[in-house]
Amino acid sequence: MELSFTVNGRPAALEVDAADTLLGVLRDRLRLTGTKEGCNEGECGACTVLVDGLPVDSCIYAAGAAAGRSVETVEGLSGDQLGAALQAAFISAGGVQCGFCTPGFITTLVAVLREDDKPSEDEVRRALAGNICRCTGYSQIVDAVAATVAGRVAG
Ligand code: FES
Ligand code: FES
Repeated sequence: MELSFTVNGRPAALEVDAADTLLGVLRDRLRLTGTKEGCNEGECGACTVLVDGLPVDSCIYAAGAAAGRSVETVEGLSGDQLGAALQAAFISAGGVQCGFCTPGFITTLVAVLREDDKPSEDEVRRALAGNICRCTGYSQIVDAVAATVAGRVAG
């Protein structure tokens, strides 16, 4: 089937099979390798992208289901003011260690902070329940969100 959709604001069209996942199409066909493949079972969040603004695990999202939709990956979010602010805050707060989980965290958090300017720490931790980080212990990530929120309020 032909899949026509928007990726990071640009139209894309390609042939996909029913078994293709959105993750496979993004990484292997469109060379958007910022989105990571971790568990491949919808458990770790490394593959998180936004579909029509909502975070999804792209490893278990059928590519064909993205037809007509808008997909945002970490590459696109790097050019987004909020995404760039989060990335800088992650680096400053030590929220990036091996970095494998980071694109998924940034992507989920962009969706959270687009909806809510000032989420509580509990809300942030709940929103990140589907994103696993084996390195940081999460506190630095929560600190990075707090710094981003503070910067938006100050800015
Ligand atoms: S790779 Fe998709 S949730 Fe782990
Ligand atoms: S920084 Fe290594 S898994 Fe999160």
